[in-house]
Amino acid sequence: MSEKPWDGRFSQRTDKLVEAFTSSIQIDRRLYEYDIAGSIAHCKMLAKVGIITDDEASTLVQGLERIKTEIEQGQFRFDDSLEDIHMHIEDRLFQLVGTVARKLHTARSRNDQVALDVRMYLRAETLNIISRLKELRKVFVNLAKANMDVVLPGYTHLQRAQPVLLSHHLMAYYEMFTRDSERFRDCLKRINVMPLGSAALAGTTYPIDRHCTAELLNFPKVSANSMDSVADRDFVIEFLSDASLCMVHFSRLSEELILWSSAEFGFAEFSDAFSTGSSIMPQKKNPDVAELVRGKTGGVFGHLIALLTLMKSLPMTYNRDMQEDKKPLFEAADTLKACIEIYAAMLPTMKINKEAMYHAASSGFLNATDMADYLASKGMPFREAHSCAGKAVAYALRRKKELHELRLEELQTFSSLISEDIFKFLTIEQMIDRRKSHGGTAAENVIAAVKEAEKQLEI
Ligand code: ARG
Repeated sequence: MSEKPWDGRFSQRTDKLVEAFTSSIQIDRRLYEYDIAGSIAHCKMLAKVGIITDDEASTLVQGLERIKTEIEQGQFRFDDSLEDIHMHIEDRLFQLVGTVARKLHTARSRNDQVALDVRMYLRAETLNIISRLKELRKVFVNLAKANMDVVLPGYTHLQRAQPVLLSHHLMAYYEMFTRDSERFRDCLKRINVMPLGSAALAGTTYPIDRHCTAELLNFPKVSANSMDSVADRDFVIEFLSDASLCMVHFSRLSEELILWSSAEFGFAEFSDAFSTGSSIMPQKKNPDVAELVRGKTGGVFGHLIALLTLMKSLPMTYNRDMQEDKKPLFEAADTLKACIEIYAAMLPTMKINKEAMYHAASSGFLNATDMADYLASKGMPFREAHSCAGKAVAYALRRKKELHELRLEELQTFSSLISEDIFKFLTIEQMIDRRKSHGGTAAENVIAAVKEAEKQLEI
């Protein structure tokens, strides 16, 4: 077993149970590339300010690069006795280059080192998520464009409310995922701050140049307070909260598509490639992908709560509790990336049942508001018009008819303001076309929204 870098004051060997319990290597090993990049930058900075020589720096850098290759080629030995990725790399560096390896840890501690690694990991993941979200947003825009002639009922309380264009519905999701993407971009500002050189908590006595390290690692900002730098995990919580909101959107979309694909709705069908069967019922084709996305949403919320709870009572500054931040963070990021990817692939393969959607939009008194609007346009105050249309609905219901199926004379019993032109007013096409208010479902609005989105996405 290798000696521990911190065991100078210890006279007993660490209990095996403690080693296993405190080790985080199985989780934080995936930070290796950031840990190595951070150490290389640290080395170069130490040489630049004269704390180590150029020769020492190049020996260390070569050793670190070799370790990276070893890890990537699966030749690196991970061992619980070395706790975490930072100690593993330093220990191996000592085996490779000898005592000079011990100089690498000058003017830093694992507290600022782990903060740096997590920030670098999260910066890369956040950029990756933003670019995946962009692909997904393109999918929504393309689907909206391809389905401009499809009408379906818009719902409130899951009751048919008013007809809308499917494209309008799809562009609503475009808006949600665009906001998600903006949130991640904003979060990047807080992630992209360089903590190394804060050392354990109080800064260091060495004449280091933190701005040089930041520049080498492409950080636009250096953290301002050494205590905050090692104690802060706000940026992780913020990321998890952004991820949770994004999962809320996926979960709502999933719920909707699951409903739409049921025999009861019959609005859409998942392609065979994105569905699964039942081991007992041969007729079944299940929307498992959407269900799993909906199910995984709970897990991501859980990771957010885990981090909030983890941090809420910690005194300043670093506490070992914080080692527990990585598993929830990694899992949440992995889940979100997988959900974005599978949705971007699955959505274009879905079959839309245009007729079923149109049929559903044609019944259920979706034109009752329009009848009230019609009366109001003829001078009746809207509240009165609402009640008049309500009475007409009750009448039609008793006769098992829709409003537009009533005869003109029947309609006229509700108001003398009604004439033949009401029938055109009550058609689905007119109902949609008249909703030209900014953001409304009229085709010209939706076409403009699609154009604007194309501009933003550069497609
Ligand atoms: N593995 C630790 C973590 O992930 C690294 C920091 C350890 N610092 C310490 N003082 N023990 O948080």
